[in-house]
Amino acid sequence: MIKHTLSALVLSLLSTAALATDTAQIAHGKTLFNSGAQPIACAVCHTLQDAGATGAIGPDLNEIKPDAERLRKTMMEGVGVMPSFAAMDEADREAIIAYVVQASQ
Ligand code: HEC
Repeated sequence: MIKHTLSALVLSLLSTAALATDTAQIAHGKTLFNSGAQPIACAVCHTLQDAGATGAIGPDLNEIKPDAERLRKTMMEGVGVMPSFAAMDEADREAIIAYVVQASQ
């Protein structure tokens, strides 16, 4: 019984930690989206309501609702006038991806 309660406690602590990490990652992604993404911040070219971004060079992310795979491919390879973001730190790139997926759905 005690063992059971303890493992439930450990599980809930673990998932709280995971949730906190996700929240921090998403907040970091939002910051980079608006300024910090290299070579140019996403917000310069894209509209995304949650970020207060109104860029109109690329598609409106609220409309295309890209999934993580599409974001990752686009950021790694670039598309049209959108540059590649492959030189960015992977954790930073993944933070932007997590943020845009969450903010655009
Ligand atoms: C210099 C302007 C510019 C910047 C900066 C930029 N984009 Fe783009 N993006 C575009 C344009 C233009 C397109 C459409 C390209 C085309 O279809 O030819 C596009 C397309 C996309 C697409 C759709 C790709 C597809 O599947 O068709 C996604 C997703 C995207 N951008 C995400 C991002 C994210 C995330 C960032 C920041 C890391 C970013 N963009 C930065 C201009 C930009």
